[in-house]
Amino acid sequence: MPVYNLKINGQSHSVEADKDTPLLWVLRDHLDMVGTKYGCGVGQCGACTIHIDGTATRSCLLPVSTAQDMEITTIEGLSEDTIHPVQEAWKEIDVPQCGYCQAGQMMSAAAFLKENANPNKSEIRDAMSGNICRCASYNRIEKAVELAASKMS
Ligand code: FES
Ligand code: FES
Repeated sequence: MPVYNLKINGQSHSVEADKDTPLLWVLRDHLDMVGTKYGCGVGQCGACTIHIDGTATRSCLLPVSTAQDMEITTIEGLSEDTIHPVQEAWKEIDVPQCGYCQAGQMMSAAAFLKENANPNKSEIRDAMSGNICRCASYNRIEKAVELAASKMS
């Protein structure tokens, strides 16, 4: 099986895997980085969102073979000691219910706020619309993104 060299959260990892293995499974099963979650497996729920070169990306759809030489960031590497403004806002608003979707929600929010530092409500809703929360914590997510934006400005 081929070996892939991946740069994840600033560290290099060598992983032996089939070329079509989704990066999500490499993170979870090969590297024990289980913060990134499996929801639908077909790119529709956002639970598996990570950053590839700073862009929010569905790791369930990304074959490991295409992730080489890219900067991969997972929820574990979003910040040291969970001090990213998005994480702080999430804690202050107390967003999670069951928590399952929340890593993906925060990764989407962090990538979005890098592109749009001062979003209005409709831009926030739009940006976060690809992340499903079966506990329907959408109001708190929206408030937390607003709070994170104010912390970052
Ligand atoms: S698990 Fe990747 S989008 Fe649902
Ligand atoms: S907090 Fe339960 S799925 Fe979102």
